[in-house]
Amino acid sequence: MAGLFADREIVLGVTGSIAAYKACDLASRLIEAGARVTPVLTRHALEFVGAVSFEAITGRRAIVEMFEPLHSPEIEHIAVAQRAELFLIAPATANILAKAAHGIADDWLSTTLLATRAPVLFAPAMNANMYAHPATQTNIETLRARGCHFVEPEEGRLACGVTGPGRLAETRAILDAAAVLLCRKKDLATCRVLITSGPNHEPIDPVRFIGNRSSGKMGRALALEALRRGARVTVISGPATVALPDGAETVRVETALEMFEAVKARIKIADVFISAAAVADYRVEHPAIAKRKRGAEPLALRLVPNPDIAAHVGAAKRPDQVAVGFAAETEDLLDHARNKLRDKRLDLIVANAVGGAACAIGADRVDAHLLAASGAVRDLPGVSKEALAEALFDEIAALLAARGTTKKRPGEQQRRKGSKTAKGGR
Ligand SMILES: Cc1cc2nc3c(=O)[nH]c(=O)nc-3n(C[C@H](O)[C@H](O)[C@H](O)COP(=O)(O)O)c2cc1C
Repeated sequence: MAGLFADREIVLGVTGSIAAYKACDLASRLIEAGARVTPVLTRHALEFVGAVSFEAITGRRAIVEMFEPLHSPEIEHIAVAQRAELFLIAPATANILAKAAHGIADDWLSTTLLATRAPVLFAPAMNANMYAHPATQTNIETLRARGCHFVEPEEGRLACGVTGPGRLAETRAILDAAAVLLCRKKDLATCRVLITSGPNHEPIDPVRFIGNRSSGKMGRALALEALRRGARVTVISGPATVALPDGAETVRVETALEMFEAVKARIKIADVFISAAAVADYRVEHPAIAKRKRGAEPLALRLVPNPDIAAHVGAAKRPDQVAVGFAAETEDLLDHARNKLRDKRLDLIVANAVGGAACAIGADRVDAHLLAASGAVRDLPGVSKEALAEALFDEIAALLAARGTTKKRPGEQQRRKGSKTAKGGR
């Protein structure tokens, strides 16, 4: 997440929900990722959390009272409304949704929501019955229709003992939604991006498998960056440990053969294909149907090669499609990467050193090199996976623009602006 929010001005509105304490972690993560956060608490929020916590985390004065700022220009409501690049209300009570939907301005937060032209992102949290109430749902619809954005609450057991939707979305999901709204580059707005991510599990028997250490972090960073730039994203993910961004369509698979089938079914409509999965090179030829018993004798497993998904895509791709691979190598990194780029007929390849201290698998930072089919090489030493994803999509966007792919569906962006996604949005 580092850098995604660098120097961005965010107003964090905290309202009177039992989940208000979670906003401290959210504020902390935003600051960690470079944002400048102005905390705003309603009077009722102060029943749950202290303003001083937010002041300590953000290094800025927390705003509560409407009339006190008359004496401090830096927190005067019109000035803050104009400077904000995003209003993030988390947790958002039923009350703030109702006030915002009806234009009620009776405290600092609700007043400033009327004054801002920045995108507004609500993360509701409340009792399941309050959330399901037609009044709340109508208010949410009204706000969505006006262009406000929502991170939907999760289902689960709520503090009040009721089970249902109403629990504040995870901090990660709120940060992802905020990152998408804050991205200035929308150069992939007409594109469909297909990404494979994570490891494969190749069964030995019903309870055992051969796997690898891929975490899915790179696939997640790529999916988020593509969403930020306006693409429609599908991730075909093996059993990875990290959560994917909510805005991406996710297809879950286990084995390399399943991943291959899922890619073949979707590749025709993709403009960009990125093979970030650590695809299993081999599978067990005959996995046992029943669990294998322990024995005194050595056990030999015969492994057969899996299809090379990236090579298949590279060989079959149309001139308007861009195909990208990853080369994780323990030795002769650039030579192997160049050979893969050529042999698999890819447009770009990311070369990562694996093994030893420089291991990219599962790490947050990598020493990467971007190699293009044109022969150009870009070295990216010690970059975060988010920064690597951004650099890679800069190259991809340039290739797509050169091939006219990003201009081929001019009506698309307009249609999508008017359409609603499951998670809302303009
Ligand atoms: C213990 C407790 C927990 C509450 N939790 C929530 C909540 O999670 N969501 C909500 O919409 N209201 C909740 N409320 C009610 C709000 O605090 C109340 O509607 C208040 O007027 C909200 O004011 P605000 O939106 O200005 O912060 C809770 C009240 C209490 C006493």
